[in-house]
Amino acid sequence: MTDSKHAAKYKLTRGVTIWFTGLPSSGKSTIARNLERLLRQQEIKVELLDGDVIRTNLSRGLGFSKEDRDANIKRIGFVCHLLARNGVAAIVSAVSPYREARDSNRRLIGSFVEIYVRASVEKCQERDVKGLYQKAKDGLIKGFTGVDDPYEEPLDPDVVCDTERESPEESLVKVLNRLETLGYLSSEETAK
Ligand code: ADX
Repeated sequence: MTDSKHAAKYKLTRGVTIWFTGLPSSGKSTIARNLERLLRQQEIKVELLDGDVIRTNLSRGLGFSKEDRDANIKRIGFVCHLLARNGVAAIVSAVSPYREARDSNRRLIGSFVEIYVRASVEKCQERDVKGLYQKAKDGLIKGFTGVDDPYEEPLDPDVVCDTERESPEESLVKVLNRLETLGYLSSEETAK
């Protein structure tokens, strides 16, 4: 990381939910994990809620119908609400394909930063990190987001990370800068 911002000592001014949404294999988890690591290094209280992990505990038993996805997103939103009001930076990485579910979490939580991790379906299919696009194409998974289930793009996201054109480091810098302009992070420049 070469950007001078990384020499900054960040402080979190108040609890916030940083919500990464996007197609499977768009790059959400990579950026979210890097953000988590960086904030933790700055001794900021942070919790990462990753869709895949949440589905093995908090949302165990839920499937991928609209109803179940809405329930999953609502549960994650509720936990974020609890964390954010206690001064934690709650980072979410979940497909969260439905606009209304995301918007209702924004209304519930208030301090909500929506990050759209954008890559075309073609690119995500090419990456196919978990081999699930192929399974969906072969008919082994039904209702897969981007194949035969919709992804509703955010209309007014706080940040767009275009992972077809940006490196994960560039995306991370964009997120940090936005958190700073929104007043959630304050930085004191320190000598490298
Ligand atoms: S969400 O729609 O409820 O927000 P979530 O982020 O928790 O989804 O889980 C998505 C992950 O579950 C994907 O990254 C993928 O690994 C897996 N998955 C399994 N089936 C599906 C499906 N039908 N649609 C999307 N993702 C699926």
